[in-house]
Amino acid sequence: MAVTESAERKRKTARGKTSRKQTKSPSRKVAMTKSQVEIKRVSPALGAEILNVDLREDLLDDTIAQIRKALVENSLVLIRDQDITPEQHVAFSRRFGKLEIHVLTEYLLKGHKEILVLSNLKKNSKLFGRAGVGNYWHSDLQYMPKPSLGSILRAHEVPEIGGDTMFANQFLAYDALSDGMKELLAGLRVVHDFAKARYRSPQPYSDKAMKKTRPVTHPAIRTHPESGRKALYVSPGFALRFDGMTEEESEPIFEFLYEHAVDPRFVYRHKWRANDIVFWDNRSLMHNAVQDYDLQKDRRHMHRTTISGDEPF
Ligand code: OGA
Ligand code: MN
Repeated sequence: MAVTESAERKRKTARGKTSRKQTKSPSRKVAMTKSQVEIKRVSPALGAEILNVDLREDLLDDTIAQIRKALVENSLVLIRDQDITPEQHVAFSRRFGKLEIHVLTEYLLKGHKEILVLSNLKKNSKLFGRAGVGNYWHSDLQYMPKPSLGSILRAHEVPEIGGDTMFANQFLAYDALSDGMKELLAGLRVVHDFAKARYRSPQPYSDKAMKKTRPVTHPAIRTHPESGRKALYVSPGFALRFDGMTEEESEPIFEFLYEHAVDPRFVYRHKWRANDIVFWDNRSLMHNAVQDYDLQKDRRHMHRTTISGDEPF
């Protein structure tokens, strides 16, 4: 009995020592490279809120990888209560890729050309950002040969009511098409042109900006480079016609697709709070900034960074 007890104690001590020895340095390393972000879906259609991150900090590669995974799986991530500076916004955005400098250079933030200012505020009674833009369904930079991977919008000031942004999941839109329509679209490309947005804009687009873009074609159905899922990639924002067809021939199909693509089942409508960060995937979503607030009276002030993407296939 005495022998057994002492043997047991020895084994315990030995085990304790061994396990402490073996786990000490690896566990410290784990603490420095691993994290577990908390994720909560925000709607059946798309979107996930990330709960325990602080974008004022230099995030671990592992945290960035989890945010990226959440983006690919949910097409949009929301991170609330982030009172970050333009430097922190840019630094966070850069973790996901190269950043775009928007062609409308007059609305870039002074000293931070990676930030596009979306704002109806005025300095010396002059607008210094783009006011009331994006109030039609579109995907950012769809008019460029290499459209954007994703956009990261940071809310500084938002109206008490109104000024929401709607997002529509184009994976779901594709999945819900008939086999016949999927087949038809698989063989088609769409001509997109930035000039289409120019005539709708309340603020003039400079000729200099217009010279930096020209019509481009992209497949009507694109494959997400990270998940392999197929998404509808036709939007009223910049699409002119199907490549090889006239506008008149394209129009009836476009009309069907524009309505189908934004079926309420595919849509999440984000009600902004100041210090919200919304990061959306332009490869799988369209969005529409609802222009239902008073542009003269209701203050809405946002900063956007735009992550470079690849040529759609
Ligand atoms: C954009 C856009 C959305 C908004 O930033 O790309 O379209 O809610 N605006 O202002
Ligand atoms: Mn946009």
